[in-house]
Amino acid sequence: MQEQIDQYTTEVEAFNPANADELETFRIKFLGTKGLVKDLFEQFKSTTPEEKRTLGKVLNQFKQLAEGKYQLLKEHFDAQITTATAQQDLTLPGEGFAVGSRHPLSLVRNEIIDIFKRLGFVVAEGPEIEDDWHNFSALNFPEEHPARDMQDTFFITKDGGKDSIALRTHTSSVQVRMMESGKPPFRAIMPGRVYRNEAISARAHCFFHQVEGLYVDENVSFADLKQTLYHFVQELYGEGTKVRFRPSYFPFTEPSAEMDISCTICKGAGCNMCKYSGYVEILGCGMVDPNVLENCGIDSKKYTGFAFGMGIERITNLKYVIRDLRLFSENDVRFLKQFKTDIV
Ligand code: DAH
Repeated sequence: MQEQIDQYTTEVEAFNPANADELETFRIKFLGTKGLVKDLFEQFKSTTPEEKRTLGKVLNQFKQLAEGKYQLLKEHFDAQITTATAQQDLTLPGEGFAVGSRHPLSLVRNEIIDIFKRLGFVVAEGPEIEDDWHNFSALNFPEEHPARDMQDTFFITKDGGKDSIALRTHTSSVQVRMMESGKPPFRAIMPGRVYRNEAISARAHCFFHQVEGLYVDENVSFADLKQTLYHFVQELYGEGTKVRFRPSYFPFTEPSAEMDISCTICKGAGCNMCKYSGYVEILGCGMVDPNVLENCGIDSKKYTGFAFGMGIERITNLKYVIRDLRLFSENDVRFLKQFKTDIV
């Protein structure tokens, strides 16, 4: 064993590696978990007590020699790497970070919020699981109204009727919560997710997003409604976008209207997005029905208001020319990374 140690000592002393790889081979050979130092200590266990006395010291010296040599050479090679890095051309451009992008629906929702915030609207939210009162009854839905039907609504308890709990079918429920819990004036927009029992296709989904708007005060008129929404459209789609209002029906507004804008794709010339009519519908609106105000404890003789509701998917489709709703919930990175990010 003494002989073996002498031989290894000579080898370690003479070792002069050309690079870090050779040093690593050296480390594995002598100091690795299956290396020669370990091996020698194993052999040492079965030597006689006399041998142990002399060999113990020699063996420890050899171990320190190998470790010391390795440490020294390692520091030498590590320093070489640092110098090489420092000598690189520091004016070369960096590698850049892969930054994620915001979801298109978030971009558009934020844009809508920004526009209304500048008009003094606050943002409010409500629960996605709603009772019949907030989703339907307070909003003046007659009990036999087809929107309460199983086809449209995901009921959680009971299948319709006054005691049922459901996934909200629209954000109009937040209007009710807001009016019940405060005093006029109200000026708020209410973004959120809504659910309908629809088969998933390019044009329909079982969940989507809406932004609800509500403005209640003394002397609020239909002219205020028109001007607010007109301004909104100019901000969102650009100056010169035309709007038109068509009479419509919603249980919670009277009178009610649907608002169209000149097609953002063909600028009114006619294309398949606007079905060659030059106009596309973007929202429902109207003057808050006095029954709704009274249901929420607001004096309908003193106060009037307008409300509107729009689908964020629809607004986004028109802005980015997206024709398949399913893209919004598939999380395909090839789709998502096409949208500019405002994350910095
Ligand atoms: N809640 C309606 C829907 O989901 C949209 C809507 C229409 C909201 C007219 C309103 C409104 O506030 O006044 O289709």
